[in-house]
Amino acid sequence: MSLRKDFLWGGATAANQVEGGYLEGNKGLSIIDVVPAGKDRVAVKKGKMRMLECDDQYFYPSHEAIDFYHHYKEDIALFAEMGFKCYRLSIWTRIFPNGDEVQPNEEGLKFYDKVLDECLKYGIEPLVTITHFDVPVHLVKTIDSWRSRKMVDHYEKLCETIFTRYKDKVKYWLTFNEINMLLHLPFSSSGLVFEEGENEEAVKYQAAHHQLVASAKATEIAHRINPEFKIGCMLAGASIYPYTCDPEDIWKAMGRDREHYFFVDVQSRGEYPNYAKKMFERMNINIKMEDGDEELLKNNTVDFVSFSYYGSRLTSADPEKNTQTAANLFPTLRNPYLNTSEWGWQIDPLGLRITLNALYDRYQKPLFIVENGLGAIDTPDENGYIEDDYRIDYIREHIKAFKVAVEEDGVDLLGYTTWGCIDLVSASTGEMSKRYGFIYVDRDDAGNGTMRRSKKKSFNWYKKVISSNGEELE
Ligand code: BG6
Repeated sequence: MSLRKDFLWGGATAANQVEGGYLEGNKGLSIIDVVPAGKDRVAVKKGKMRMLECDDQYFYPSHEAIDFYHHYKEDIALFAEMGFKCYRLSIWTRIFPNGDEVQPNEEGLKFYDKVLDECLKYGIEPLVTITHFDVPVHLVKTIDSWRSRKMVDHYEKLCETIFTRYKDKVKYWLTFNEINMLLHLPFSSSGLVFEEGENEEAVKYQAAHHQLVASAKATEIAHRINPEFKIGCMLAGASIYPYTCDPEDIWKAMGRDREHYFFVDVQSRGEYPNYAKKMFERMNINIKMEDGDEELLKNNTVDFVSFSYYGSRLTSADPEKNTQTAANLFPTLRNPYLNTSEWGWQIDPLGLRITLNALYDRYQKPLFIVENGLGAIDTPDENGYIEDDYRIDYIREHIKAFKVAVEEDGVDLLGYTTWGCIDLVSASTGEMSKRYGFIYVDRDDAGNGTMRRSKKKSFNWYKKVISSNGEELE
């Protein structure tokens, strides 16, 4: 076995991290547009600080981001030059700016028509995330976002609209970016803000139920509108290792894995797993379901499972083992066998093979790695060129790991889209200096710079990787 001939090589971005033009074309204010850079960012993202308006004292990186809104032709031309077969992007607040309009915003629909046409012109398959950390602020103010069952109706309408409009342009869709992020960053992923003293876990799992129902509805609508559509779920993936072979550590790691698998278990197998039902009983959580929900979930499982992977995680039952390091979503214990990025994220290519195998064993559905990459500081030389061998090394080792998972373990893998194929705003920090791209964008953390695009060393390297279907990695 080797990689498929039609393996979807490419890159990924999200509207809120690249587009800018935050109020242009009648776009509505999205939750990320009120998340500032700097000291209050984490409290706002976690739903601990209610901030639903922009405030002049703060800087909001999403407002201009890298101005993909005006540079999309140039950017997609560069993706095409690298030979991309696939480009992952996201969509929402341009189409229903407030989330609850009767009619969609034609200007928003047209913008994505142009973006999609530009991709198709070069033979690039679009992969659309329906919501990537994107909820209209209006829906947070009026119905408390995903706490409310009404969100399912708004989401359904969005799906009807985009599936119909882009029926012949898009085949691959993801319903929610990193759906498990809801548990960790409830505001920036799902627009949840908490009241003091309330049972936050109950709020989160009720919101999760609404998203799971919305995801199943999306799948149902998609297959009705175009049976060729392929609908995927999307998990912030990373296997969780036990610190030692102490059974207590093994048990703890299993439980932590389940926190994340829970979402995909429902989306992929179509029912709430028993371990989750028991957990809800213990936590005194009573999920409110409507008639027909269980049937809907059962009949509308996803076609494929996608995930992001940056590095593995480590856990221990021993409270003395408490040296932590940063990671995607939330910190993890420091694994002494692994190196870290400049932001403390642990680098573990073998962990990608392990994660792929764990997901494939569990779901037996095609997998898609829709995010992977190294956030690093890039320093241009005197000619403005960036020799990002560290990024090439990181991606090369991860490609080797997934190739082996396909070739030796038999995992069915649809594609690989690296995260931030062009430099973009970091979700966790709001910085530009945490760069992932093959394409450098001249913009700094404070929003200064010309927005000029230039190719890094990794640009031509990735081009060679794609043209050889992953055979030439040096
Ligand atoms: C994932 C998100 O969590 O990780 C992306 O889906 C995010 O939106 C990416 O940008 C990398 O994280 P960060 O914090 O380095 O931007």
